[in-house]
Amino acid sequence: MRISVIGCGYLGAVHASAMAELGHDVVGIDVDERKISQLAAARPPFFEPGLPEILESATASGRLRFSTDIAAAAEADVHFIAVGTPQQASGYSADLSYVDAAFESLLPHLRHGALVVGKSTVPVGTAARLANRLADAAPHAALAWNPEFLREGFAVKDTLEPDRLVYGVASDGHVDATSVLDHLYRAAVEAGTPRIVTDYATAELVKVAANAFLATKISFINAMSEIADASGADVTALADAIGHDARIGRRFLNAGVGFGGGCLPKDIRAFTARAEELGVGHSLAFLKEVDQINLRQRQRVVDLAVAALGGSAYRKRIAVLGVTFKPDSDDVRDSPALDVAVQLKGLGAEVVATDPEGVENARRRHPQLEYTTSIDEALADADLVVLATEWRDYRTLDPADAGRKVATARIIDGRNALDPAAWRAAGWQYRGIGRP
Ligand code: UDX
Repeated sequence: MRISVIGCGYLGAVHASAMAELGHDVVGIDVDERKISQLAAARPPFFEPGLPEILESATASGRLRFSTDIAAAAEADVHFIAVGTPQQASGYSADLSYVDAAFESLLPHLRHGALVVGKSTVPVGTAARLANRLADAAPHAALAWNPEFLREGFAVKDTLEPDRLVYGVASDGHVDATSVLDHLYRAAVEAGTPRIVTDYATAELVKVAANAFLATKISFINAMSEIADASGADVTALADAIGHDARIGRRFLNAGVGFGGGCLPKDIRAFTARAEELGVGHSLAFLKEVDQINLRQRQRVVDLAVAALGGSAYRKRIAVLGVTFKPDSDDVRDSPALDVAVQLKGLGAEVVATDPEGVENARRRHPQLEYTTSIDEALADADLVVLATEWRDYRTLDPADAGRKVATARIIDGRNALDPAAWRAAGWQYRGIGRP
């Protein structure tokens, strides 16, 4: 099929490449010239495992091209909207200006029978509003909402082999959106991927409800880690034990510095804002608590660091391991790790932050910090080490070896990613989150 993907960020660039990989003829469109020229040269503008390979093979096959001109979408029959919906500068609502601008710019280029497919995470009601606009401006085209559940770090696999497909379609659609989407995702459909065909509102809600649930799960275990610290219990053993209950499950029960990134934090805030607009703010009041627990974790790690240093971080050298919001990503948006590093710097510490992929993005946002990509350089003469993102390189550090590099062997394990016994045996003063 001939497809356009509007918005070539973490979502759109992967989606465009994956669709071309599946055999479709794809044009990726973005207003950012730098991004487009990099993608056109088969160079991903961000770090995502597996993306370089499919981008390379898809561009070489001639099935994938990129443009900054929306008119390039005119040849396509299916148009994905994959632009960002960040948090508004003032308030908690989602900023829909990119979605609206992408949608409006596309209208003059829609062929007869074209299908516009929303992928961006939007407040419930957005699709219905856009469908009304489409009925006025381009009645020969139709709209579907097809939320995306990809995780950074696994984005290629999540796109090629999704765990479910959700189609929000109009009940009286003159274009058979379900058949079009089935055809697009034929490989996944034939592999038996569960597929839910529903209305716009439900499809929009599926996405934010899933993210709200995941955020709640993480904040639940972080709240348990506070109780564990107050009572001398071990939150990791607690998570293992409750996780064996299949109704609960062990995943997303890792206590630590909390969640961040371009989705979970802003999605739960936008969801509460939308619920308030709908007059049911009380239904999601608990998500404010989820947000607060999450933000408290960052402060907790900072407090633990100060306490480990004897009450003051002033002029102490602190190695912060990790600045990205999670491993296998270069994304520092709303990163708890970077936040902790910045706060420690604000307390007068000499912070040296390291990360395998995130240094460039972090430096752009917080040039006041000292950065290195070398773990050894970060550890050198440190008075304290803070593990903030559980990259494999940090999880597998040898405590004896690391101990020889630092000035004082003290570590705050902000992700409960290390074996406390092994680190203590190697002479380290070890402190985790909710671990005795
Ligand atoms: C998330 C959703 O998982 C995905 O389905 C959706 O499409 C986009 O948002 P992503 O932002 O890539 O994906 O990250 P995710 O893997 O969900 O992790 C989010 C944050 O939670 C990270 O900061 C991670 O470190 C943190 N986390 C995760 C925990 O603190 N504890 C856990 O147990 C799991």
